Amino acid sequence: MKKALIIGIAGQDGSYLAEHLLQQGYEVHGTLRRNSTPEHQQSRIHHLASQVVTRYADLNDQHSLETAIKESKPDEIYNLGAQSHVRISYEVPQFTSQVNAIGVLNLLTAILNCAPDARIYQASSSEMFGDSVDPDMLQRETTPMHPVSPYGCAKLFSFHIMRNYRKAYGLFAANGILFNHESPRRGSNFVTSKVVKAACEIKLGRTNRLELGNMDSSRDWGHAKDYVRAMALIVNHKIADDFVVATGQTHTVRQLVSGVFGRLELNYEDFVFQNPKYLRPEELPYLKGDASKAREVLGWKPEVSFDELITEMVESQMRQLSDRDAS
Ligand code: NAP
Ligand code: GDD
Repeated sequence: MKKALIIGIAGQDGSYLAEHLLQQGYEVHGTLRRNSTPEHQQSRIHHLASQVVTRYADLNDQHSLETAIKESKPDEIYNLGAQSHVRISYEVPQFTSQVNAIGVLNLLTAILNCAPDARIYQASSSEMFGDSVDPDMLQRETTPMHPVSPYGCAKLFSFHIMRNYRKAYGLFAANGILFNHESPRRGSNFVTSKVVKAACEIKLGRTNRLELGNMDSSRDWGHAKDYVRAMALIVNHKIADDFVVATGQTHTVRQLVSGVFGRLELNYEDFVFQNPKYLRPEELPYLKGDASKAREVLGWKPEVSFDELITEMVESQMRQLSDRDAS
């Protein structure tokens, strides 16, 4: 039985990855961060409580990482831990860099000390491309990276330190360059989840206003369930390498909003307003990924379309709101 250690198991991706690896027959271990409201912390993995082993650890605390590795003895380590919100990375740039950049170096050091044969996956990001795009309007593994946020800059450091340690020390250190991926478990301050929640509440007459930032940026949105399959394929490939994971479709935030409100038979223009508070000091205007390498080398392809993703998120939110009413 293979053993996996997931740093950040209680996040959106951590929860889906844990489910996927359990289905594949893995023993799954995961790390949580200490916070002041433990009752909410494991909401995404409550249903897995009897099947996974969790312990506290933090990317900023190398001792805790070494203990987690020594106790779980993993064959595979998935680093999904991060301050993952791009706009908030402008409010806490040093903290973001400590966790998303130096934290990865801490983890690699712990792995060199305690489990140099383990295979490592790093959650790299399309945010690393920043304002760079190839002439065919796609981003791929060879596209230059010019990040435009503290989050993107920190992720670029971790991307390169993974490649550096792969060559310098022979670690199996692989990067997934994942484009945006969403689900009903998405944190409520990311745009898909924020829009879906507000539109459902508007439909039920609980509010009549949604405030957003820039609606003209474009994102390549996929489903988190599809993307965690790619993570496991990357880690189980014969060599450590870097892969773009994306759908190859892009939509503006406005199209997302119009689609979500349209599904609920609402006209978004009656309810959606811009609040400068949600604008970013520098915006990443456009993302559209070319996942040909993952398709050809790993046999990966996304199974959930943008429309199916939105429908699932809307239906799940409507169910949650009516369950809340009923209880
Ligand atoms: P998420 O829901 O925000 O989950 C992040 C996880 O990291 C949470 O469990 C969080 O714990 C944990 N964490 C935060 N700070 C940590 C620290 N100092 N030490 C250890 N763990 C820490 O994000 P996600 O959407 O699942 O994304 C997973 C990873 O993929 C992240 O690294 C993200 O940057 C990257 N990524 C995401 C996307 C996307 O579109 N979702 C795309 C590309 C890359 P708490 O819940 O306690 O904060
Ligand atoms: N969050 C948010 N809130 N975004 C808004 C809002 C708002 O009120 N209004 C407009 N947007 C726009 C943002 O400016 C951005 O252009 C787009 O919606 C998507 O924002 P997010 O959902 O916050 O995602 P992101 O693209 O910044 O970052 C996500 O994807 C990255 C991969 O490209 C995160 O998951 C990152 O962790 C990930 O690396």
